[in-house]
Amino acid sequence: MLTTRPRGTNDILPGETEKWHYVEKVLREICMEFDYQEIRFPIFEHTELFQRGVGETTDIVEKEMYTFLDRGQRSITLRPEGTASTVRAYLEHKLYALPQPVKMYYIGPMFRYERPQAGRYRQFHQFGVEVFGSFDPAIDAEVIALAMNFYHRLGLKGLELRLNSVGCPNCRPKHRETLQSFLEKDLHRLCRDCQGRYERNPLRILDCKNNQCREITAGAPTVLGSLCPECREHFEAVKEYLDEAGIRYLIDDRLVRGLDYYTKTAFEIIVNEIGAQSAICGGGRYDGLVESLGGPPIPGVGFALGMERIFPALESQGISIPLENQLDVYVIALGKAADRKAFQILLNLRLEGIKADKDYLRRSLKAQLKTAHRHNVKYALIFGENELEKGTVILRFMETSKQKEMPVDEALDLIRKQMDKKIKM
Ligand code: HAM
Repeated sequence: MLTTRPRGTNDILPGETEKWHYVEKVLREICMEFDYQEIRFPIFEHTELFQRGVGETTDIVEKEMYTFLDRGQRSITLRPEGTASTVRAYLEHKLYALPQPVKMYYIGPMFRYERPQAGRYRQFHQFGVEVFGSFDPAIDAEVIALAMNFYHRLGLKGLELRLNSVGCPNCRPKHRETLQSFLEKDLHRLCRDCQGRYERNPLRILDCKNNQCREITAGAPTVLGSLCPECREHFEAVKEYLDEAGIRYLIDDRLVRGLDYYTKTAFEIIVNEIGAQSAICGGGRYDGLVESLGGPPIPGVGFALGMERIFPALESQGISIPLENQLDVYVIALGKAADRKAFQILLNLRLEGIKADKDYLRRSLKAQLKTAHRHNVKYALIFGENELEKGTVILRFMETSKQKEMPVDEALDLIRKQMDKKIKM
């Protein structure tokens, strides 16, 4: 137990974290270009926020939340997603008083007690965006464009954008009725979960993965077929904006998201090569959520994408992440006195912004050179007792294995100049 992490969690080790940094850098750059600002909210919230925000009848609230009483007997939940918290913060800090729309993004861990498998974890990371205060269908298209832009920038291909409208409180009751009467005769054949959903949330039955349920719902009426004029107009406009932007999509009238707050636009992005957990991104519009959490009737739209699902997708398409050469200089010292000098020079190099390291195990010259090679450094600075006495150092160009003894200052100058050139390039 002591040396095993909890099921469904991951350690992101050195070597992997660099890839995460790169992806996060791309995300932050895109957010700057699209004018989204970062919000950071707590890892845990009052349980009620998610019960009311995500929806009592969702799998997340019914089965997947990490909920506990804190020492003050308050019910606390580790955040299973970021939308509810962003809405809470938007209301708590009266961000609706700012010029609208307010466009925010977040990156961080989320927690769901799910059955772990490849791509599905109990602690996972989402990047998400949320936009408040605009009914404009162009903003639906903008958030979709942001997600697609990100994947394209990484080089991912073969993405499938699935688009649907799940209607609004005007058109949904009518659909609910027609769906229930369609399903009534087969109610006893639906899976146990769907039998429960029949009354509470029949729309979710369309999303059930059970084979028999799929068979039963094959010809079921979809919300798309019974949209009210306003929802239809909105849906048409979102499609036009996407067409205009050259973003291809597939209409999927059975796409029902696993969270209850969606109205109108719902979408997912799928990449097929990564197995069962192929949804790399999901989102949509939630025009009733702010109000249902006690705020003014302000609309919202956003998405979240799973960070852990990016890397297998990249790998399956043979795309490698450009990693920066980590170290520039490796300082090698032989003998106690040389080591002191080397240590001082090492710290100075770092002060100048040059990435440098040394050996701390008093290894042989050969072993230290091997380490320098492993780090893929351009230069090694070698200090021996002899050089120390003369005030010189051996500068070794690792690529060619050529080396030259010279005064310490001269060697440092040469490195600085070359590094400058590299930075300017
Ligand atoms: P979601 O579909 O539950 O939506 O999650 C969004 C994405 O997070 C999924 O497409 C998937 O890539 C990733 N994800 C979800 N669960 C897991 C898991 N257990 N392990 C690994 N990755 C996972 C939401 O969370 C909404 N809050 C999105 C949203 C924002 N809608 C509007 N604004």
